[in-house]
Amino acid sequence: MRNSILKISEYVPGRTIEDVAKEYGFLPEEILKLGSNENPLGPSPEAIKAVRDHANTISVYPPTDAKELRCALAQYIGYPIDQIVVGNGMDGVLDVLTRLFVEKNDEAIISIPTFPYYELFILACGGVPQFVPRNSNFDVDVDKLLRAVNKKTKIIFLCSPNNPTGNLMKESDLRHLLDTTESMVIVDEAYAEFADFSIVELVRKYENLVVTRSMSKAFGLAGLRIGYAVTPPEISKEYMKVSPAFSVNRIGIAAGVAALEDKEHLRQTVKTIRSGRAFLRDNIPFKTYPSQANFVLVDVSPFTAEEMCEALLRKGIIVRDCSSFRGAGNSLIRISVGTKEQNMRVIEAFKGVKT
Ligand SMILES: Cc1ncc(COP(=O)(O)O)c(C=O)c1O
Repeated sequence: MRNSILKISEYVPGRTIEDVAKEYGFLPEEILKLGSNENPLGPSPEAIKAVRDHANTISVYPPTDAKELRCALAQYIGYPIDQIVVGNGMDGVLDVLTRLFVEKNDEAIISIPTFPYYELFILACGGVPQFVPRNSNFDVDVDKLLRAVNKKTKIIFLCSPNNPTGNLMKESDLRHLLDTTESMVIVDEAYAEFADFSIVELVRKYENLVVTRSMSKAFGLAGLRIGYAVTPPEISKEYMKVSPAFSVNRIGIAAGVAALEDKEHLRQTVKTIRSGRAFLRDNIPFKTYPSQANFVLVDVSPFTAEEMCEALLRKGIIVRDCSSFRGAGNSLIRISVGTKEQNMRVIEAFKGVKT
């Protein structure tokens, strides 16, 4: 086994409904899962229909270029198809992109606390992650990032809105970074649909910018695994060489296209999330942080995150303990925004915990 692999610590995923129901004595349908930022409205009915309609095609390999899906994504995001690449969830896309740029002993910079997977992908390539802490309100410190760049730096990973903090990176800060460094900058916009703005337009201007996106969140297709990226054209050509040939399956292609066409479902989802996150922030009896995503970060001090997650689990509610996010301390939890009724159940649960 390669040494670089043995050094990787296992990823700590959010808890599953089945495992919590069993451990805390609930029926699975009584569990409220708000730990993985899934869509509380579920998938578009059009996507479900597409899954059913395409069930009889699954004995045949999918097209390697996933052209139909890339075409629909190109239209959705306003870029030509030769600048769209797809993969097995955004995780799959990030894996391929990291393999394109990072060799043994290369460095990549991560602005922490953030989504933990970037670190795993770098380590799997034999690369060395460099961690640059965000400042006290979780904004990216661009000068500090730039000071960490050196000849070995191949990628700078940024996430906007950031998981788990929920804040956006300022466009002026990103431009400054892109103007100053030649390293590849990957901006993860998994939650872009819930935010006031996206920086995807900058891919037209910068050769060293890739924006990664997901259909797991606003489109409610987390279980199908569809991610994509908007890249400069030279990068997408190389991406195709390295990407596993059939990384998006037939059902994923059909459901992805159908979900992109269902504008009304997307609109309802965004509306539900925006009002729900305002409700949660107004009513959670602890410090919350402003969010542009479909979750709210809560500082539960004087409790620890572990204590609070445990207290909520006893009430059948799964939220995310952020202690496993590097640089997040031990008092932050992340709660996905649910439906109105689900959000009210969360607030009720907090009342019980605080007393
Ligand atoms: C910031 C961020 N990036 C990427 C992903 C992975 O997305 P996907 O489900 O498309 O692999 C997640 C999932 O939670 C995420 O929070």
